[in-house]
Amino acid sequence: MGLFSKKTKQSAQRPVPQHIAIIMDGNGRWATKRGMPRYGGHAYGAETFRTIANYCKDIGVKYLTVYAFSTENWKRSQEEISTIMGLLGKYLQEALLDMEKNRVRFVFSGDLSRLSPELRDMCIQTQERSKDYDGVQVNFCLNYGGRDEIMMAARRFARDCMEGKQSPENLDEGLFSSYLYSAQVPDPDLIIRPSGEKRTSNFLLWQSAYSEYVFTDVLWPDFTPEDLEKAIAEYNQRSRRFGGVK
Ligand code: IPE
Ligand code: IPE
Ligand code: MG
Repeated sequence: MGLFSKKTKQSAQRPVPQHIAIIMDGNGRWATKRGMPRYGGHAYGAETFRTIANYCKDIGVKYLTVYAFSTENWKRSQEEISTIMGLLGKYLQEALLDMEKNRVRFVFSGDLSRLSPELRDMCIQTQERSKDYDGVQVNFCLNYGGRDEIMMAARRFARDCMEGKQSPENLDEGLFSSYLYSAQVPDPDLIIRPSGEKRTSNFLLWQSAYSEYVFTDVLWPDFTPEDLEKAIAEYNQRSRRFGGVK
């Protein structure tokens, strides 16, 4: 029986982080290594997402935040952007059909106004129709940027002040957090970046203040539940002090 069979997963005794975030990176290099055009890797990356999201649900992770497309990714070729957006549309269509069975709650983080109206509608529908599901909550970061999120929150808070609904004296970390896309979601415990890069690339700048990072050289399309378990094992070795003393 495989180490990560259903039975083992259910009887596993290790603690599982409440909130895992993943920068799904390395699709392009994965494709290039196989002599495929860069954008060919995104379809495989989408399959990996499906596997990992289901696995997170099985082991009891409450929140899974994934970085799918950044505010900077518009710099890529039109061909690559269209492939990614097309795959997202296809994925969401399937997610809408399988929703009953999967019981995954989807929340979208990012500026959806730049997406095509069809894709934006699908995001809104998926979020709306899955809002009562009790499986893992997937926060899907699409046209997301950490700086953009903080700026958007500052703008909304300033507007509320101008309209007399808020005042600057009231602003504290909790109140500011409630203006972010991630309002109601606890900060990520563990952030995983596959693909060998060691940077945040504008991901969860506010929320990652005390997150534990795990970097791995595995490219996202090759990332397996075993790799996730390795990251969780590394996380479980860490001593989180939040600025205090153990
Ligand atoms: C991540 O893979 C997917 C997106 C950023 C949309 P990349 O496309 O960045 O793959 P690499 O990093 O170039 O290999
Ligand atoms: C981060 O990866 C964004 C996503 C995975 C969606 P990038 O490939 O865009 O990051 P850089 O350019 O290597 O920093
Ligand atoms: Mg990349």
